[in-house]
Amino acid sequence: MSFYPGGRLYACLVAFPDRRLRRLRRTPALRRLVAETRLGVDDLVAPLFVREGIDEPRPIESMPGVVQHSRASLVKEVRTLAGLGVPGVMVFGVPCRRDEQGSGAWDRDGIVQRALRDVKDEVGDEVVVMADLCLDEYTDHGHCGVPGADGQPDNDATLELYARVALAQAEAGADVVAPSGMMDGQVGAIRTALDGAGRTDTAILAYAAKYASALYGPFREAVDVAIAGGGDRRAYQQDPANRREAQAEVAEDIAEGADMVMVKPALSCLDVIAAVRASVNVPVAAYQVSGEYAMVKAAAERGYIDGPAAALEQLLAIKRAGADIILTYFAREAAEILRG
Ligand code: PBG
Repeated sequence: MSFYPGGRLYACLVAFPDRRLRRLRRTPALRRLVAETRLGVDDLVAPLFVREGIDEPRPIESMPGVVQHSRASLVKEVRTLAGLGVPGVMVFGVPCRRDEQGSGAWDRDGIVQRALRDVKDEVGDEVVVMADLCLDEYTDHGHCGVPGADGQPDNDATLELYARVALAQAEAGADVVAPSGMMDGQVGAIRTALDGAGRTDTAILAYAAKYASALYGPFREAVDVAIAGGGDRRAYQQDPANRREAQAEVAEDIAEGADMVMVKPALSCLDVIAAVRASVNVPVAAYQVSGEYAMVKAAAERGYIDGPAAALEQLLAIKRAGADIILTYFAREAAEILRG
């Protein structure tokens, strides 16, 4: 029992040896009963890559187990994920041709639009079909927007292009569009365009707090993107030093009409996920990115760690931090394990 100096009882804390926290850890059933966080298949979204002009899926060397899909193999993979109960996929396109504006991103017959139609035809509303909305996979310079005079994306000129992409993706059947380019005003521009075209049901998952991270490395191989002149995205993605700024980004996106917000990357931003979860009332997603996946796979391949156990521990940590939705390249593997 504890007393503060005034002499009044303020707490009746039981301490060792009366209290033994290990009691509730003794058996698997006890641990299951008192688990504060539960990871389930319903939490997962699988990011998937589809490449134009291939007949067979192509492995991505830095991401063992992940491939660039052909249109046919993409459909098969989404069917498998649906069978496992995974509720969502996020589709990324790898086009044959690129240009300065990234026009393949809004071409009605562009690879992502075709793939979205294929997937929708196969699974309908069984799976939430999301489309990453950006230009970098489609531009010849690799930036997420059309270049201005200084070579960096011209913010406002890019918004107009994002609006076109949103319409093309919605028309192709995307349930959710997910702008990832970190242009100011992108959510508002997309919402306005969608509503103007009567697409009021298309939802927006905003990559709201997206950091300029070294952990996107393997993704660049996955989509064959190199930034011209060895450049980077620090002039539009967030500085990893900042957390308050993430709150500002999230508030801005919700004010502009985001239905859900995302924090990315996940593991190096657990504090940001927690802060965002505490301050908003929309679903919060977190993206365990390519580098996070690659690190687990590489260490497991060398026998340094137990890969599946490490993956599940990390996914659980992302959930515990506050993520309602987890985008992860482990989605299929995790779903197989979680279903037992
Ligand atoms: C941009 C985009 C990127 C990722 C998702 N959307 C690349 C970037 O911002 O450089 C990274 C995903 C990952 O690393 O898994 N279209």
